[in-house]
Amino acid sequence: MTLQIKTLDEYKAAWQRSVDDPEGFWAEQAASFQWRKKWKKVLEWDFEQPDIQWFIGGKLNITENCLDRHLATRGDQTAIRWEPNDPDAPVRSFTYKELHTEVCKAANALKANGIGKGDRVCFYMPMVPELAIAVLACARIGAVHSVVFAGFSATSLADRIKDATCKMVICSDYNDRGPKHIPVKQIVDEALEMGCDSVETVIVHRNTGDALAMVEGRDKWWHDEVNHQSADCPAEEMDAEDMLFILYTSGSTGKPKGVVHTCGGYMVYTCFTFRNAFQYSDGDVFWCTADIGWITGHSYIIYGPLLAGATSVMFEGVPTYPAPDRFWQVCEKHKVNIFYTAPTAIRALMAAGDQWTEPYDLKDIKVLGSVGEPINAEAWHWYDEKIGKKRAPIVDTWWQTETGGILITPLPGITDQKPTFASYPMPGVQPVLVDQFGTEIVGNDVEGMLCIKFPWPSILRTTYGDHERCRQTYFSTFKNRYFTGDGARRDEDGRYRIIGRVDDVINVSGHRIGTAEVENAINEHPDVVESAVVGYPHDIKGQGIYAYVITSHAVGNVDTITKEIRDVVTRIIGPIAKPDIIQIVPGLPKTRSGKIMRRILRKVAEGDTSNLGDTSTLLNPEVVEDIKTGALR
Ligand code: WT7
Repeated sequence: MTLQIKTLDEYKAAWQRSVDDPEGFWAEQAASFQWRKKWKKVLEWDFEQPDIQWFIGGKLNITENCLDRHLATRGDQTAIRWEPNDPDAPVRSFTYKELHTEVCKAANALKANGIGKGDRVCFYMPMVPELAIAVLACARIGAVHSVVFAGFSATSLADRIKDATCKMVICSDYNDRGPKHIPVKQIVDEALEMGCDSVETVIVHRNTGDALAMVEGRDKWWHDEVNHQSADCPAEEMDAEDMLFILYTSGSTGKPKGVVHTCGGYMVYTCFTFRNAFQYSDGDVFWCTADIGWITGHSYIIYGPLLAGATSVMFEGVPTYPAPDRFWQVCEKHKVNIFYTAPTAIRALMAAGDQWTEPYDLKDIKVLGSVGEPINAEAWHWYDEKIGKKRAPIVDTWWQTETGGILITPLPGITDQKPTFASYPMPGVQPVLVDQFGTEIVGNDVEGMLCIKFPWPSILRTTYGDHERCRQTYFSTFKNRYFTGDGARRDEDGRYRIIGRVDDVINVSGHRIGTAEVENAINEHPDVVESAVVGYPHDIKGQGIYAYVITSHAVGNVDTITKEIRDVVTRIIGPIAKPDIIQIVPGLPKTRSGKIMRRILRKVAEGDTSNLGDTSTLLNPEVVEDIKTGALR
């Protein structure tokens, strides 16, 4: 197994070693995996292009490392334990042996339907075991999975299917999530009517069993395709740098981009970080509450835990259904040792009241994790006291879709606890803070834009179909550095605290949303002339979405148009991007070059109109007064 750091001195030594001899360090970590053929060279990199390659010439299949490798030693141990939405419905468990069998059968079904190495398969599925099984089945035969969060709209799904020219879509019939009944397959049908010509087959998993329309020749049932297949499916030999998956994420401009991760480096890094960030030990039950539609679910529900031979809990439901004690009930029921969730969930459960946590002693919990957005001090302390009972260290893990795995985090029981600080870089990670000119800010007790100056094994390799966009977005702002888009502070002891995005990306309940995307959706409303979207502090969601909208004629009923705008956004992107606040304005503050001055809009949305700074350079300073007067916060 990869190195597991146990003391502060070991951490310091490992980090130093990873900087002095990165190739030696990562070669040692990679050695514990099953390779069909060893790599010739550990690393070649050039951030200008970018061209980053790890374990060059190495051959492997990640599912052999997730599954086959464990059969002799832990074949009868639970690999995945699934908790359904309905607390009274049966739990489904898969041992490593059983999961291996299911993955092989599904892999054979994909092959029988014409899927082979390099083909893209799109997933639009709720959190059911078949999602994990089919994702691994893709990886087994060298197909590329592109999982789309099932909360996205048909339009968003279609965009992603087209961008990756997927040959197949795998979905469920319906999904019961919390109290909602969602027609999953119907949304796929709608998406496929939007010109997704590459799709030949839709595999439908029967989840709720409600009546469904199947398209002759295109749609096939999972059980018809999978059940009769052989449980023997040799894994495809993959190059370390072959594509493993695409995952779409939002940025400050344009449509979401398909972040590409490759087989070898991603495998080594997710396993390494899983074992260290959570101090996983054999037999621990690990529960990450994320959805597999996000990177957190990819790396820390599926790949990291399975690579490490852990038991990974997968949950279909939501934290508040049927009541706000569901998380704690599930923790007790499955004797969860390591629990990993998002600050937005913590804040929502905190707001529901302590009476929901009190019946649970949660004595099995050893480590608590947080991810996705900054965790405020109040939520941190509540998590520590009410859930960890002050005996479970909290790891505030900072990372991104593009980083593949955790980059900055405390190590539980090893580094000290400082609320709201993601703390120290993982071995292999070299963070730097820079100013707006790209000059490195040295020393401690400083603030700047967070960059990473050396590659780690699971750094993104490209954005699908548009390498130039990858270069521009991440590698061109500052020469020879990966730019994260986040601002950070480094304290007197070198710990990092992530402040938040410095670009036009907002983080709503841990979901990354590009303001430009929301604006484009709002502008689809026939009465909208122009709009500008900014984030504002929100007690539960972290950030809320505040939209300023100019309409083509005076609106009669404000409620009607705001409802219509929300509906348009839901239809085009999905409910997660729906503006919380919509203010109809006569104009937007613009510079003489026609750029919207977002700084002013952010201030107003924050409810702080006392000092809007210099507005004299505006083309239309008079609109500022109107905006202030009509402010909705
Ligand atoms: C953005 C990445 C990677 C997991 C899920 C989100 C923010 C993530 C933290 C944290 C403060 C955080 C950053 C980052 N973020 N973790 N522990 N503290 N901020 O992945 O959707 O790619 O979003 O989430 O702003 O850039 P993502």
